[in-house]
Amino acid sequence: MSGKRVLVIGANRGIGLNLIKEFVKRGWTTYGTVRPQTRDDPSCDELRETGTKIFELDYTDDSTIAQAAEKYGNEPLDCLVNCGGVGPQPFAWDADGRERLLEMFNIMAAGPYLATKHFIPKLEKSSKPVVANISSEFGCIAPNERGGFLGYRMAKAALNQQTKTIAQAFKDGDSKIIFLALEPGYLATRLTGWKGEDDMEASVKGMVDIIQRAEHSDTGLFYTYAGEKLQY
Ligand SMILES: NC(=O)c1ccc[n+]([C@@H]2O[C@H](COP(=O)([O-])OP(=O)(O)OC[C@H]3O[C@@H](n4cnc5c(N)ncnc54)[C@H](OP(=O)(O)O)[C@@H]3O)[C@@H](O)[C@H]2O)c1
Repeated sequence: MSGKRVLVIGANRGIGLNLIKEFVKRGWTTYGTVRPQTRDDPSCDELRETGTKIFELDYTDDSTIAQAAEKYGNEPLDCLVNCGGVGPQPFAWDADGRERLLEMFNIMAAGPYLATKHFIPKLEKSSKPVVANISSEFGCIAPNERGGFLGYRMAKAALNQQTKTIAQAFKDGDSKIIFLALEPGYLATRLTGWKGEDDMEASVKGMVDIIQRAEHSDTGLFYTYAGEKLQY
């Protein structure tokens, strides 16, 4: 066992579940969250089989975030992975109304922010804590030549800004948490309608390598799973 502990939010399927499996292979103690409304879904059985300790958490419900942090207890936390998210469809820039835009922001920007806040006291007990936000190049402004997926892009841009901004707050004090944004590649999951071009195993191995190797000089940076630096 590595003696390290990781919590993955959104751990019952897709990238989150595969990250859990990779951390388990590397000897980490794993904690994962599922949404209360999904607790009886077969996807949660696969998570249970990994030996992961499961908490219920919905990014849109503050009380579930607070309860998960309380249930986690006072053990040091070496890595928090903010992974839960929803898909970018439809493509048309004007397809989303206020409700859908706010829902995306709530899940992929406000949720990770509140989860990070709640788990900071546990991260501060680790010797080299990392917060890894699973983002997307869709959240970058400069390379956006294709347009579309406006709500998803806006939410991921907010998550990128959050990563960089919180990283500054932890740069110079005693508490040196490392904040990273990670681009997992284009992977076949429910979120992409099972379309993808990259390999899940390579993606999760690459992201866990980055997390394990991260130094404080990396804080606030955005990396592809292959370790290339991205401009926000
Ligand atoms: N797949 C890709 O190509 C790709 C590319 C770039 C970035 N990403 C990002 O990677 C992350 C994981 O996506 P995925 O492709 O693995 O999709 P996925 O297989 O659909 O998994 C999404 C996960 O997020 C959870 N989730 C959804 N809403 C949530 C909420 N309100 N609170 C907490 N968890 C919630 C889901 O829980 P339920 O099962 O209960 O719905 C599920 O566990 C997302 O942030 C996504 O934006 C994916």
